[in-house]
Amino acid sequence: MYSRIAGTGSYLPEKVLTNHDLEKMFDTSDEWIRERTGIGQRHIAAEGQTTVDLGLEAARRAMAAAGVAPEDLDLIVFGTTTPDQVFPNCGTLLQERLGGHSFPAMGVEAACSGFIYALSIADKFVRLGDAKCALVVGAETLSRIVDWTDRGTAILFGDGAGAVVLKATEEPGIISTHLRSDGAYKDLLYCPVGPSKGFAPDASGRTPMFIHMAGNEVFKIAVKSLGSIVDETLAANGLDKSAIDWLVPHQANIRIIQATAKKLDIPLERVILTVHEHGNTSAASVPLALDAGVRSGQIKRGDLLLLEAFGGGFTWGSALIRY
Ligand code: UT7
Repeated sequence: MYSRIAGTGSYLPEKVLTNHDLEKMFDTSDEWIRERTGIGQRHIAAEGQTTVDLGLEAARRAMAAAGVAPEDLDLIVFGTTTPDQVFPNCGTLLQERLGGHSFPAMGVEAACSGFIYALSIADKFVRLGDAKCALVVGAETLSRIVDWTDRGTAILFGDGAGAVVLKATEEPGIISTHLRSDGAYKDLLYCPVGPSKGFAPDASGRTPMFIHMAGNEVFKIAVKSLGSIVDETLAANGLDKSAIDWLVPHQANIRIIQATAKKLDIPLERVILTVHEHGNTSAASVPLALDAGVRSGQIKRGDLLLLEAFGGGFTWGSALIRY
């Protein structure tokens, strides 16, 4: 038994914050941001609009594309780092919004790798026969934990959501997933507060509910880790890199994407690129790109896709998929 992607969906909030808008907030320039990151703009959730609100829109679109009704679902796995509340988890909150009852629904926190982790978990439920129709979501309201005075991080992040419906099938589908994590790097990319550690103000008197990042070091380790996970994925399946039709990467920085594409000898024309449109949306990034590729007609049924992501923790991972 395997799982296959029966439908994809995504959603970006209406409000757009351009690089020119950021020029008015701190010392930066559109030219610098485009050159170093490839980002042109990011979308920002409206006041009161939550991660589950964004996830719901993406889920509805994925379910419509798959021809699936809420009563067909038997699992929700929701990847996010910016949940609506501590509990219930976002999967359960989404289940309620969709009108579903009693099947398992969970949240998965793996920073920017949240969707790949969620996909891998849902795939295993399907393979083991514990689910036949799973909704997998990656959604974030990262703008709520961005320090809008810090030009090193504020230029990068945005809000959004993406989703897929997985159905049980006899042929893959999801061929393999590969997950990695290493807490030795916990101090390079993190948000330092939480219910257990507390929300005490820092020396400046602000509650430091912000993303902290050593950008340059994260960059180098991301390039290395993504390079090795794509090698590992190909080797595990006895495939040559020429077999990949589309690379669907985490949309963090165009230069990181270019480095992974180079490693795979894959031209940028065979890489789904959305980073210019919405920046780094963490767990939403890969399913947003996947949905863009499908809806634009670039990705076709039967194509071999390599999805990959890297984020805080560090966590990273990949999925090899026959679409
Ligand atoms: O999902 C995974 C999470 N994160 C990432 O993937 C992000 C990984 N890192 C990056 O994308 C890059 O490191 C950044 C885009 C964050 C920064 O680019 P960089 O090429 O690594 O720049 P840098 O930090 O080495 O800084 C170079 C210069 C510095 O000035 P000096 O010291 O050379 O005079 C910075 O102060 O650029 C300056 N700088 C900026 N200038 C204009 C840093 N941020 C900005 C800015 N605008 N926004």
